[in-house]
Amino acid sequence: MTSYKDLGLVNTKEMFKKAMEGKYAVPAYNFNNMEQIQAIISACVETQSPVILQVSSGARKYANQTLLKYMGQGAVEMMKAMAAEKGLKEIPIALHLDHGDTFELCVSCIESGFSSVMIDGSHHSYEENVALTKKVVDYAHQYDVTVEGELGVLAGIEDDVVAEKSTYTKPEEVVDFVNRTGVDSLAISIGTSHGANKFKPEQCTQNEEGVYIPPPLKFEILEEIMKQIPGFPIVLHGSSSVPVEAVKIINENGGALKDSVGIPEDQLRKAASLAVCKVNIDSDGRLWMTAAIRKHFNDKPADFDPRKYLGPAREALINMYKHKNESVLGSANKV
Ligand code: G3H
Ligand code: 13P
Ligand code: ZN
Repeated sequence: MTSYKDLGLVNTKEMFKKAMEGKYAVPAYNFNNMEQIQAIISACVETQSPVILQVSSGARKYANQTLLKYMGQGAVEMMKAMAAEKGLKEIPIALHLDHGDTFELCVSCIESGFSSVMIDGSHHSYEENVALTKKVVDYAHQYDVTVEGELGVLAGIEDDVVAEKSTYTKPEEVVDFVNRTGVDSLAISIGTSHGANKFKPEQCTQNEEGVYIPPPLKFEILEEIMKQIPGFPIVLHGSSSVPVEAVKIINENGGALKDSVGIPEDQLRKAASLAVCKVNIDSDGRLWMTAAIRKHFNDKPADFDPRKYLGPAREALINMYKHKNESVLGSANKV
């Protein structure tokens, strides 16, 4: 058993308390490889933002679970060295399991040094979700690891459930769920979804430049939840904005992305000023990395050293994360 405390990581408790008081959201950025983790740490140290490094079960398999533990520790050491070199403050870093689907996976992550886990029981019946989430909480809290649960189902990329009321979180369930499970934060469904195609074009209006403007998030549900569980940290998954510039670069350089629509930044800013304390972003990083690499290959087809194309990809990520912290989530200068 490796305690996250020995790796220099923190759980999300204090981060969320400060985010709730300060009316901002902590970024939760997914990573699978070295360039992504370097970019996240560089951007968050430079903007002086707390950060949650997020690993999905797919990412854990891809990156190798043993190496990941040391990547979490390496992130902390890199952060300390960068902060000292630049005369900046050290930032809190949590290492979080994203969309854990079994008790065993959560245990395995906790044993290898994760400071926070999500148990996503949202696809089970309500009672099964409560039972599974409580089991994870009871285990995790012995080690001071924080737990995120989920109520309501987020659409997948291909599922057309965004507009269906039944998938939104039911505010009347949240008090019972939070009390019976003991979770530290709650992911809710108010109209976001995973991936780069969050809305169908026919659900959107278009501005003069032809950019799709999706329907607003269901803030009335968030506000009702806030009345039911005042001061409780809320998590928003599926919060990429799918920037038109990144999609354009991809498509101008051989890509074939169609009808890509994300969550407008002003919607995320509003959510972060309410009870949303954690905002999950993965797809935007994938898009900017792909845009930079495609452009590089197009501009310099003779290059074959991975550093030549992964370097610009890392730079694109740094710019994006800084922008999110400073101008969307409000987490910059909060350490
Ligand atoms: O919410 C899902 C994340 O974007 C992770 O995706 O399972 O493909 O790593 P993944
Ligand atoms: P996006 O696909 O919108 O980036 O969402 C990521 C996410 O919710 C990870 O859990
Ligand atoms: Zn998610």
